[in-house]
Amino acid sequence: MTAVLGRDILGEPVDRVDGPVKVTGAAPYPSDVTYPGLVHAALAQSTIGAGTISRIDTAAAGAAPGVLTVLTHENVPALAEAPPTSLGPPPRFPFKDNRIVHYGQHVALVVAETAEQAVAAARLVRVDYATTEALLEIDDPRAPLDRNPWGMDTNRGDVAAALASAEVSYDETFTISAETNNPIGLFATVARWEGDRLVVHESTQWPMMVRQVLAAMFGLPEENVRVLVPFIGGGFGAGLRLPQHAVLAALAARTVQRPVKVVLTRPQMFTSIGHRPETVQRVRLGATRDGQLVAIDHEGTSTGGIEEGNIEPTTMVTSEMYACPNVTTHDRQVRLNIPNPGAMRAPGTVEGNFAVESALDELAYLLHCDPIQLRLRNYAEVSPVSGLPWSSKALRECYRVGAERFGWQRRNPEVRSMRDGDWLIGYGMAGVTFHWYQAPCHARISIRRDGTAYARSAATDLGTGTYTVATQLTAELLGLDLGRVRFDLGDSDLPPAPQSGGSGLAMSLGAALHAAAGNLLRAFLGVVATDERSPLRGRGVDEVTMSTGRIQLVDDPSVGETYTDILGRHDLAELTADGAVDPTPEGADVEPVGAFAARFVEVRIDEELGRLRVARVVTAVDGGRILNEKTARSQILGATVMGIGMSLLERTEFDPGTGRIANATLGDYLVPVSADVPDLDVVFVGERDRFSPVGIKGLGEVGIVGVSAAIANAVHHATGRRIRSLPITVEDLL
Ligand code: MOS
Repeated sequence: MTAVLGRDILGEPVDRVDGPVKVTGAAPYPSDVTYPGLVHAALAQSTIGAGTISRIDTAAAGAAPGVLTVLTHENVPALAEAPPTSLGPPPRFPFKDNRIVHYGQHVALVVAETAEQAVAAARLVRVDYATTEALLEIDDPRAPLDRNPWGMDTNRGDVAAALASAEVSYDETFTISAETNNPIGLFATVARWEGDRLVVHESTQWPMMVRQVLAAMFGLPEENVRVLVPFIGGGFGAGLRLPQHAVLAALAARTVQRPVKVVLTRPQMFTSIGHRPETVQRVRLGATRDGQLVAIDHEGTSTGGIEEGNIEPTTMVTSEMYACPNVTTHDRQVRLNIPNPGAMRAPGTVEGNFAVESALDELAYLLHCDPIQLRLRNYAEVSPVSGLPWSSKALRECYRVGAERFGWQRRNPEVRSMRDGDWLIGYGMAGVTFHWYQAPCHARISIRRDGTAYARSAATDLGTGTYTVATQLTAELLGLDLGRVRFDLGDSDLPPAPQSGGSGLAMSLGAALHAAAGNLLRAFLGVVATDERSPLRGRGVDEVTMSTGRIQLVDDPSVGETYTDILGRHDLAELTADGAVDPTPEGADVEPVGAFAARFVEVRIDEELGRLRVARVVTAVDGGRILNEKTARSQILGATVMGIGMSLLERTEFDPGTGRIANATLGDYLVPVSADVPDLDVVFVGERDRFSPVGIKGLGEVGIVGVSAAIANAVHHATGRRIRSLPITVEDLL
């Protein structure tokens, strides 16, 4: 019955190839980089939420020991406007004028010989402000409101008519607090000029974007900017925009003519690299009495910075989730005097899933129907948007296998019906549909005369395993042992790669490596095309395979020769080929699709104390082929923990009046610790995806999605209370 488990999809769970350099401290993170003559910079930040700087006095800071310069809006040269990127509007340069748009905006950068001197001097910068009222509330009618801000709203059928005539209808609102990404690695920039070339070591998920934006702002050709990030201490979306301290570090390095390092403090991480915006969502459903959805209307509102804005498409996957004839989705963005939000793991999708999958659970109770049965009743067998068959979809298997492993059949659907002593027990579940994303990507592979291979692309590894899976995939494509393959990333001088983001890197890079391996095979066949001594002469790519260090005939594997023999006979040190993949398929006959999952959660609640424990989480995931079972499982485990944080603990608290973040430390901002994390069970189901040439779908974000709805649904089952606001805290349960 569980025959689908792992069949043909689970890649070797090899250890991370970069593990040894990481655990021995040899891996250079951006904040570790140093140069002879390197100096340090520290930031001073605004202490009002909105207004202007009327006077800024840097005399004391400038005269402090070791200080080389103090940059403010009064003395920096004008820079060109940054261009928008594919992931959002251009960042606002904070020193472009004297305006303050949020509490914690950078107002000065102090450069000194040591980090301690810079930090001490930054405290001496005196600023007088003319303060105006800061707009801070998502429902403030004075705040600018963008409708359909990303052009992603959708409509099919006639939702108004279907809602009006539905046998059963539902209309509720969900809210989620702002949260802040907290990668353990403090974000840092080291900037160094070599004449008119700029080298930047940057905590980023996207070296090519950093290169493009810095080149534009400083008026340089892109090839004059080099961005290096071989390691980063976590990302989760915070590294998808160019942070302002990177621009300031580059300016400072040019001013003092020495390499400059800026490392954010933990409180500065809360104001300087984005956060998940607060959201309000309204979900309306219409259904027949026997559980057929006839209408879905999903409206999401999120917050954005007053002059920048952010992409937080809470309703993005809603139109794809269920086979419902009438669906509208709309997003809105409210602009406030807050630090500009940014991507934080599964931006939009994770919030949208909380609302829709909680609503489905409520509908199941209205209809006296099992929540899984309701989802199966409305299963989207083909894409409800395009009508095309999915490139792969094993969501049904996710439900079945997840339910089986969890023991869903033991659930008594009555609320408050399951108990263990003082603990009320609740079982909840949620389904997950994640979107497909592939971006243009290039990769290059060389095979050398000693039989080793070297592959590279300007990608990043957030700690998720890019080094490892790219090495594994290259070894497999070339038919080489893992130990004979090296893969490099994290350098904008390498063939261009997209961001580690949107769960699209492995898919994009995998396809680029696949293309490069094919081109490399062609290059080898070209070399031996007229070689009388080669058993491969005159052969085409379709007649051969790359296996065990050699190229051999498909029909007769005994006929072939090694890379080493070919390169040696032709006196070549190596052969190199590039491969590239384009983003979106035109005229495909399948709908390329992202991951699916089903979540099952058991909560235990002590009613008298309001104490909630997540006791178990079972996650069944369809991510297509899994390149490495160990790194993939880690992705899902880590994201599930993050989902528990979102559900129960995480909330960025903005002070009324100023928007100062009141809990901007890891002591005050709560994240799950080991004691909050229960037994987590992860199982991979499905098949190799038909669209991807290497059979994979993205896994980076799906792991956080669905946790909150499953927990909230379990809380309802345990207590009878429907909680539509995250995080769920003890006050909600008393
Ligand atoms: Mo992810 S939030 O696209 O890094």
